[in-house]
Amino acid sequence: MHVSDDLKEVVRQKYGEAAKRAAASQKSSCCGSAPCCGEAIDPITVNLYDEAQKGEVPAAAVLASLGCGNPTALAALRAGETVLDLGSGGGIDVLLSAHRVGPTGKAYGLDMTDEMLALARENQAKAGVTNVEFLKGEIEAIPLPDDSVDVIISNCVINLSADKDRVLAEAFRVLKPGGRFAVSDVVVRGEVPPEVRRSVEMWVGCVAGALEESEYVSKLERAGFVGIGIEPTRVYDLEDARQFLATQGINVDAIAPRLAGKFFSAFIRATKPRA
Ligand SMILES: C[S@@+](CC[C@H](N)C(=O)[O-])C[C@H]1O[C@@H](n2cnc3c(N)ncnc32)[C@H](O)[C@@H]1O
Repeated sequence: MHVSDDLKEVVRQKYGEAAKRAAASQKSSCCGSAPCCGEAIDPITVNLYDEAQKGEVPAAAVLASLGCGNPTALAALRAGETVLDLGSGGGIDVLLSAHRVGPTGKAYGLDMTDEMLALARENQAKAGVTNVEFLKGEIEAIPLPDDSVDVIISNCVINLSADKDRVLAEAFRVLKPGGRFAVSDVVVRGEVPPEVRRSVEMWVGCVAGALEESEYVSKLERAGFVGIGIEPTRVYDLEDARQFLATQGINVDAIAPRLAGKFFSAFIRATKPRA
């Protein structure tokens, strides 16, 4: 088994457990494992959606949300468009997209974890929307034809992939010419010392593979995208993680100065050229 297959299995297991907890009406943490971050100290997934958006989807879909941003609020979706959510989890962003694109549009969710797909389909049934389809598959091999999607969204998933170049190449392939990439993800700014990076990754276990900002831009360019922008939406303050880090024997005061402003959630946009 390749390292990337191993990693994928770990991710699949964690999110399978997170889906089961959400199905039992328990809030999951960002990385789906108990000691990571209870809601009180989980600055990543907390308060991402406003009350109006929460009112549009079943409560179970809100409870299952494990993202780090709100891509549909920033993506300017239009009636009739086809949207694809990479790593759709419990389906919140797919259901919100379905409302935006309306009955003449379509919203696809793609996820590799059976438990998440089951939860998402349950949430779709509760929401009573029919312009939605949840597909089983991997974001490194999207099961859709070339030039078939207007907008790709994703919420805190690309950081989990061991092959981000493949993911971006696949996103580019399935987008129509002129199609938009409109994704929330965790990003790192500048150099982070390895030992510090490891500590922080224990806190934000779900962002172990977060890309450095300029690397994200280069990878998007290499995939063929233009009009690339990375806009921070939430910068993580180490104070948020003080309690958790202290339980891991990490001296927060010692590492805080080297980390200020380095880990953040961002809205990442790019376009597939028309020509
Ligand atoms: C952090 S959760 C985010 C879920 C959802 N986007 C949200 O905002 O609630 C990550 C999701 O991506 C899925 N996932 C992770 N890696 C994947 C991959 N390589 N291919 C397909 N799905 C993947 C997991 O099963 C999980 O449902």
